[in-house]
Amino acid sequence: MAFLFNSDAERAKIFAAAFARELPSLPFISDAANVDPETVKYLITWTAPADLDRYQNLEILFSIGAGVDQFPLATLPEKVKLVRMVEDGIVRMMQEYVTLGVLALHRDLPGYLEQQRSENWASRPVRQAPDRCIGVLGLGNLGLAVLERLRPFGFPLRGWSRSPRAVEGVACYHGTDQLPEFLAEVDILVCLLPLTPETRGILNADLFKALPQGAGLVHAGRGQQLDATALIDALDNGHLSGAVLDVTDPEPLPAEHPLWRHPRIILTPHVASATQPETAANTVIANIRRHEAGLDPIGLVDRSRGY
Ligand code: NDP
Ligand code: OXD
Repeated sequence: MAFLFNSDAERAKIFAAAFARELPSLPFISDAANVDPETVKYLITWTAPADLDRYQNLEILFSIGAGVDQFPLATLPEKVKLVRMVEDGIVRMMQEYVTLGVLALHRDLPGYLEQQRSENWASRPVRQAPDRCIGVLGLGNLGLAVLERLRPFGFPLRGWSRSPRAVEGVACYHGTDQLPEFLAEVDILVCLLPLTPETRGILNADLFKALPQGAGLVHAGRGQQLDATALIDALDNGHLSGAVLDVTDPEPLPAEHPLWRHPRIILTPHVASATQPETAANTVIANIRRHEAGLDPIGLVDRSRGY
């Protein structure tokens, strides 16, 4: 029985070396086109193969990324464990990206970029960090790490999750009932939610209205969580002051889409974070060892929650 790696060749090389060192008895295959699906016990991939039902002996389907919304949760056989990527490299990059986005909005980078285009040398109003509340939607692996990285700047911090959480120095809220109270004081909102039926379209006109006048958005969750028209309206009518977006719907964003050119939006092409093969290989190997010892892998997806 084998491990099948279905992703790019560069990452495959690094995974292969780690597997040869750490799990030499488990055959490592990176050529998905020439594998007998029945021999695959572990598969790592970004999307499920079209012939997934032929992988009769599959025990773990590893997502190569942190998100699992691209997998067919409803049709994936119950006996197959679905595992999202929980690894230090992805966390570090997301900490960098969200810090970049929060500081860009905190110091009004969209305003200065606009001024630069019109050769306008003028200072804009400054607000101090203790007067700017940052709120993070999603207190999971990434949301918690991002809050930790933002802490030294001195911003008041808030977080929102599905179930109750307690995080030192962070005012925590949970569930849809507490969402308005959470949003009421948030000056920069960060979205790090997984895409599920409950979070699809969550960044909409009602949510923007619930934020204070002049608030900003950093969105690095999934494009389908955002109503782009509502965001543009809120920016155009001045209720929101700026947005940093890493994810859109669809991706790639089509030419001429209004998100490309809005002066108050900074856009990146889904690059906030990416799985780093050196650290990810160790995580996957550790999870295989856990599984073989009868333990649940770290990052096991709860099908009923969708993440
Ligand atoms: P986790 O599963 O560790 O955390 C998810 C968090 O979201 C949890 O705190 C969970 O609440 C909360 N949540 C889920 N559903 C709801 C809901 N309906 N209401 C309130 N809170 C909810 O995920 P990660 O932190 O690892 O990743 C988050 C997402 O980030 C990924 O799913 C992916 O979409 C995105 N991502 C984007 C990348 C990029 O480059 N742009 C890179 C990597 C990830 P609870 O704690 O109660 O379970
Ligand atoms: C991920 C992503 O989920 O890249 O890892 O978005």
